Amino acid sequence: MKASLPVRRAILERRTYEAPAEGRSGKLRLDFNENTTGCSPAVRRALANLTSKKIAMYPEYQASTRCLARFFHVRPEELLLANGGDDALRVFFDTFVDAGSSILICEPTFPMYRYYAEIYGARISVLRYGKQMEFPVDDAVAALRRKPRVLFIANPNNPTGTLLGHPELRTILHAAARTAVVIDEAYAEFSGVSVVPWIRKYPQLFVARTFSKVAGLAALRLGAVIGCRESLALVRRAMPPFPVNLAALVAAEAAVADRATMRRHVNEVKHLRVWFAAELKKLNVKTYSSAGNFLLANFGTGGPALIRKLDKQGILLRDRSHDIAPGFVRITIGTSAEMRRLLKAIRSQWSART
Ligand SMILES: Cc1ncc(COP(=O)(O)O)c(C=O)c1O
Repeated sequence: MKASLPVRRAILERRTYEAPAEGRSGKLRLDFNENTTGCSPAVRRALANLTSKKIAMYPEYQASTRCLARFFHVRPEELLLANGGDDALRVFFDTFVDAGSSILICEPTFPMYRYYAEIYGARISVLRYGKQMEFPVDDAVAALRRKPRVLFIANPNNPTGTLLGHPELRTILHAAARTAVVIDEAYAEFSGVSVVPWIRKYPQLFVARTFSKVAGLAALRLGAVIGCRESLALVRRAMPPFPVNLAALVAAEAAVADRATMRRHVNEVKHLRVWFAAELKKLNVKTYSSAGNFLLANFGTGGPALIRKLDKQGILLRDRSHDIAPGFVRITIGTSAEMRRLLKAIRSQWSART
């Protein structure tokens, strides 16, 4: 029987594309920008030490917040923890966005900005990355004159890999006196560029971070929102009392205590990113300069068929034909063995083209 429930129109009209997220286990997962090496062994030890009494208790956040604030070089009152990076983005809608108010994004980008905007019934103003995947700074400055409630920029951007440097970010912040500027730094450890040190200078600036990528905690869901004390206090008002689970806290503390593992992972990714781009170039496949743990490649008209063939071999890449152009593919940088397996598979399919 069909229920006739009073569902909000924004929910019925939602249409953001969602990636296939099930049945990936056991495959070569180069489609979600995970850390395919896995988390630090220290994380597993810390999780094994959780007692049943602790698990039965509602989590307390002060000690973990102090520890993770040290990791980000901020004060505890400048950090809020959230249930994954996705959730760290949602809080800006709860805080700043009424139905009908506008947000500004630049596409192609991480789809969650649009996803939440649709759920909250926001108007979405869209800029486009340029032909070489450059961010349109002048267009952003012009659009900010219309005072959107929130501007979201992923830096580096997913899927293009584009990195905005400090001068461009400063230009944008100066143009955004009446707009909350969220710099989504999900991949900052790979780019080495962060605006976290600027939070006390720009009260409109917020930084979103995640422990899913470099720390390899995607399954545990831990994200962070960073901003100056006064601005973050506004966001705090929109948060539930227990947004984060204890396992995620314990795991993150162990992960940040093991800097050597993180550093090793970042260095390996950077090295493999350069190597893999050079190998694709030899096959006449264009890639775009990336500051993340992934590469955007253009396989042209043969791209969709290639993805389907690799998929049949259990190799998952992310087709971006729908939001860039047919043939664009985002490739997560996995381990050296994984990247060699992928290259071999691409080479054999590519040379077999008619
Ligand atoms: C730019 C960007 N921001 C945020 C996230 C969210 O990550 P998570 O929800 O796993 O923390 C991702 C994940 O792919 C991302 O690419």
